Amino acid sequence: PLARSLSMTSLNGLPQWEDEDLPVEDLLLFEVSWEVTNKVGGIYTVIQTKAKITADEWGENYFLIGPYFEHNVKTQVEACEPPNPAVKKAMDIMKSQGCQVFFGRWLIEGSPYVLLFDIGSAAWNLDRWKGEFWDVSNIGIPFHDREANDAVIFGSLTACFLKELSSQFDDKPNIIAHFHEWQAGVGLILSRSQKLPVATIFTTHATLLGRYLCAASIDFYNNLDQFDIDKEAGERQIYHRYCMERASVHCAHVFTTVSQITAIEAEHMLKRNPDVVTPNGLNIKKFSAMHEFQNLHSMYKARIQEFIRGHFYGHLDFSLEKTLFFFIAGRYEFSNKGADMFLEALSRLNFLLRVHKSDVTVVVFFIMPAKTNNFNVETLKGQAVRKQLWDTAQSVKEKFGKKLYNALLKGEIPDLNKILDRDDITIMKRAIFSTQRHCLPPVTTHNMIDDGNDPILNTIRRIGLFNNRTDRVKVILHPEFLSSTSPLLPLDYEEFVRGCHLGVFPSYYEPWGYTPAECTVMGIPSVTTNLSGFGCFMQEHVADPAAYGIYIVDRRFRSPDESCNQLTQFLYGFCQQSRRQRIIQRNRTERLSDLLDWRYLGRVCETINRASCYFTEGFRYPRPSSVPPSPSVSQHSSPHHSEGEDEDEDERYDEDEEAERDRQNIKSPFSLGVLPQGKTKQHGEYRN
Ligand code: UDP
Ligand code: G6P
Ligand code: GLC
Repeated sequence: PLARSLSMTSLNGLPQWEDEDLPVEDLLLFEVSWEVTNKVGGIYTVIQTKAKITADEWGENYFLIGPYFEHNVKTQVEACEPPNPAVKKAMDIMKSQGCQVFFGRWLIEGSPYVLLFDIGSAAWNLDRWKGEFWDVSNIGIPFHDREANDAVIFGSLTACFLKELSSQFDDKPNIIAHFHEWQAGVGLILSRSQKLPVATIFTTHATLLGRYLCAASIDFYNNLDQFDIDKEAGERQIYHRYCMERASVHCAHVFTTVSQITAIEAEHMLKRNPDVVTPNGLNIKKFSAMHEFQNLHSMYKARIQEFIRGHFYGHLDFSLEKTLFFFIAGRYEFSNKGADMFLEALSRLNFLLRVHKSDVTVVVFFIMPAKTNNFNVETLKGQAVRKQLWDTAQSVKEKFGKKLYNALLKGEIPDLNKILDRDDITIMKRAIFSTQRHCLPPVTTHNMIDDGNDPILNTIRRIGLFNNRTDRVKVILHPEFLSSTSPLLPLDYEEFVRGCHLGVFPSYYEPWGYTPAECTVMGIPSVTTNLSGFGCFMQEHVADPAAYGIYIVDRRFRSPDESCNQLTQFLYGFCQQSRRQRIIQRNRTERLSDLLDWRYLGRVCETINRASCYFTEGFRYPRPSSVPPSPSVSQHSSPHHSEGEDEDEDERYDEDEEAERDRQNIKSPFSLGVLPQGKTKQHGEYRN
């Protein structure tokens, strides 16, 4: 497919290539980010999930550039020789200058090539590079800002590499470099100031000022055009970072943001309108068996229930069959991520469930990393007690089984009153005694370093959600990302999400927000807001998102108290659903996943094309082989059934009925506006 060629027109400021036909195989694409092989937050997810489709398209001509960290490389990267002689030569030159460069394949889907720069080994150049950066930009970097200093080293190494690479070509070095976020931006600024023949793209996933101002509980969105941004940056001691970000934006040939809401923010905080908005996608894998994701929910829910049995030992006076698992997860930005509003809503939900004498219990997990001193004793003890009860039950069961078997062999029915002897009863009594506890089940699983100032714990103290027996809402703060190797809750994040019932992400500042998107593709309903890129995207493209398990809290046009009430209503309404309704809703949620597939969010390709040229003809996207039922016309409420909670009816019937209703009202996804209008083409055929 690389034999195709791109028809080009001129783009202001770009080198040499105007008005020519450029074969795609002559282009080299570099994607540069601090989060390549290095997980910090959502940018890692962007790069990792997009790698497969980009590698399929660009083959050997696609490279990722990131920082070298030994641990990341050992666990994620396989070393190899660069297949491209020009890349190899450029690397060798850098090595001869004393910079360590690592090349390999990143072991993720698509196995893209990665070039990793060892920041530490090049740090001796820092003063010189800071000086050079000052000369071209007049941006001075304070010595104590480690992140900004690392960004200068990373950027200087990137620019050095691109310079050596482009000098390997006799005529046109057709290089496109796509930089993510300010930490990678120095490379872009230097490439431009050195007039390297490289087409540049800059994508911002947030603005520094937006993040800081929102975290300071300022009414951000109503005052976007009012801020004296230089002053605000200065007062927050991020002036130099803000300058790096703003210079990257203005130096880029093509500037993109991940959502419309961040586009508006960028216009005010960075003074440039993005050329393209590139909504974030995911790498969607469909199960061949339709109900597989429902089975996975059941399977992982059982694992979470096991943990709950241990955590609430001695207090298990609620039915696990009628317990719902809610969670919030992500970087610990208390108010930006809406943890403040969530806690307030939980307090109201607890009240509602209690006054209405509901038999539903809600266990809420907060998965937000904070500084800790490992797991706390009470939490570990809970799991040990559970294990002990399990072992006791197993050993008594075994003895019981043997006696029963022997009796049956003799043709007798054993006397059930005598089948357990005094020792068995003693063992069981001792096991039960060990489940007595004199404290409430803990609200946190770890020893927090800054317990007294922790915002989640302090709010829990204020609203009094202490896991009392009478509370219908129980809270567990797990201040560490999840891992399948954890001795406490051995699940990785994806497995945990699948086992839960609802993800709750009532963010105030969220340029995109992967967490609710990930819930959607796993068929788990979630709460988001109309201040998050994802929430706005869903609102724009789905007529009745709540019917599909995407609850969008209005944080834009309502007061915080009203938004909190709306969130409480969503949560309470969710608690009132029957199991059957939850199953139907999960089926619907999962059906939205195609909207979030990178394959259909082809604007990224458009961006790359813009960077190298402007298209003369419209861009054609592949159509999904089976068009998913359109969500655009369905009704909000699930059909109400009078059946009880415990029945496990035929879900297939519900699904078919539901899908049929959608089919009758169907609009193609092209008419949803998600996918641009165009002729249907197979994937891989879409470049003319
Ligand atoms: N995440 C994770 N483990 C966890 C919790 C979250 O790997 O225990 C991931 C999650 O899958 C998501 C990312 O962290 O891809 C957070 O991205 P998001 O865009 O929601 O927020 P950001 O942190 O970038 O602001
Ligand atoms: C999935 C499983 C069902 C199970 C249900 C529980 O749909 O396929 O067998 O009954 O999950 O749903 P719940 O919402 O109660 O966890
Ligand atoms: C940023 C934003 C987040 C977004 C992610 C990926 O970290 O905070 O909302 O999803 O980048 O674009």
